Amino acid sequence: MLVAEKIGKRFAGVVALNEVSMELPPAKVTAIIGENGAGKSTLMKILSGVYPEYEGRILLDGKEVRFSNPKEAQEKGIAIIHQELNLIPDLSITENIFLGREITNGWDMLDKKSMRQKTQELLNRLKLEVSPDTLIRDLKVGQQQVVEIAKALLTDSQVIIMDEPTSAISDHEVEVLFSIIENLRNDGKTIVYISHKLDELFRIADRYVVLRDGQVTESGSMEGVNHDAIIKKMVGREIKALDREQRKFGEREILQVQNLCLELNNGGRQKALDKVSFSLRQGEILGIFGLMGAGRTELLECILGIHPAGCSGNILVNGEVVKLRSPQEAIKSGIVLVPEDRKKDGLVLGLDVKTNISLSTIRRILQSGFLNRNRETKLAEEYTQSLRIKTPSPNQQVKNLSGGNQQKVVLARCLATNPKVLMLDEPTRGIDANAKNEIYKLILELSQSGLGIIVVSSELPEILAVSDRILVMSEGKITAEFSAEEANEDNILKAAIPKTI
Ligand SMILES: Nc1ncnc2c1ncn2[C@@H]1O[C@H](COP(=O)(O)OP(=O)(O)OP(=O)(O)O)[C@@H](O)[C@H]1O
Ligand SMILES: [Mg+2]
Repeated sequence: MLVAEKIGKRFAGVVALNEVSMELPPAKVTAIIGENGAGKSTLMKILSGVYPEYEGRILLDGKEVRFSNPKEAQEKGIAIIHQELNLIPDLSITENIFLGREITNGWDMLDKKSMRQKTQELLNRLKLEVSPDTLIRDLKVGQQQVVEIAKALLTDSQVIIMDEPTSAISDHEVEVLFSIIENLRNDGKTIVYISHKLDELFRIADRYVVLRDGQVTESGSMEGVNHDAIIKKMVGREIKALDREQRKFGEREILQVQNLCLELNNGGRQKALDKVSFSLRQGEILGIFGLMGAGRTELLECILGIHPAGCSGNILVNGEVVKLRSPQEAIKSGIVLVPEDRKKDGLVLGLDVKTNISLSTIRRILQSGFLNRNRETKLAEEYTQSLRIKTPSPNQQVKNLSGGNQQKVVLARCLATNPKVLMLDEPTRGIDANAKNEIYKLILELSQSGLGIIVVSSELPEILAVSDRILVMSEGKITAEFSAEEANEDNILKAAIPKTI
């Protein structure tokens, strides 16, 4: 259906794709697998008209095509769900879905009624129970991702490309998406599926193509392929399991949280956090698990001083009470947060690597009140080396780095503040299996240097892999605590399920 022939693409200083050829057959789901930065999204952007300039040829149904923009690709039947959300926050769901392809009536006036109705049908199909008139900014990230999926399903496309469509949605929504993908496949559509969640690939993909450093290294049927084999194909070698033996940590409690409460703006009917108390020792890694809405992110945000108004309770650093009214104060007290959404809250995407790294610790690079660019570059070099950040130079804009390397830049920015307590919210979202392992190793290494670390994650295997101790949250409360030895998927999940439903 769709054939790529010797596709090449370069960005300043980077060869993203080098003579990539692949065939994408109809009535099949083809998984494109590869590490962060392998070139998956770049290839998909070329196939869908986002990058009109490239080397090589694309054949659609046997005929060569050359798209100068995404609209042309769309008209020829190629739809894409982008990795990054491309929605306009201040427009409604309907307006976003029909943007650039509005339905008009005989007098060239917008036919709002039909557009709204079509949107409603799509939302029903995707089981998203919100009004088509809802503004995008009032939706949760997961719901926005569903709208992004709806956008791709609007036209009856022959080829549907999905670039990490499930990075922000919950299991239930994944099920709905998968049943839609199955229907599309039965209708003979060509589906391309990219995801770092390998389990999804085993469930939905028929074939795989491996991209490594901008080249196709292998392709074949998913049948008989297992988890380890996929990773080996991606990385080119086996990755060693984590070494967690001989964990030592100090007795000193570096962080104490006492009776932390957070009121929501709903008349105090339900608390986002309800008397949360725990402590963290020097060098300890504390995992916090919970389902969506359990209050994990709110907990970290409160500790960082983001909600000073609604928040009550005590926070002690090294035994001393601190009053945290802003993230600046938290950073001064030695607490930092690697936020859940690195693009929105963790980085300034349009700035370069060095500026992002120094951003929370400008003081360290000041000289007589002026920024010293040399010091800034040196600071950046120090961290790009120690965290093994892959970037052509400290002057590269962060938005051009792959997901895993962007995440490391956030980590570098946080570490540059010399923290005592490092909080990580979903530290490996959208990160490939190998880079994940690297981040786990870094977390372990950092804890050995005496840092207290809190890891919040909705991935059980992740929590089990890194934590010395695990807290489980549900409905704003801590419902269980396990040592690494006691914890297993069963007892953690039991404690995470809300009692009120
Ligand atoms: N606009 C750009 N300018 C410069 N370099 C870029 C640009 N877009 C991508 N790159 C580089 O091209 C390479 C391939 O990136 P791409 O986004 O295609 O990777 P990916 O396989 O989709 O990774 P991920 O799994 O993290 O999404 C990377 O080295 C990236 O840094
Ligand atoms: Mg990508």
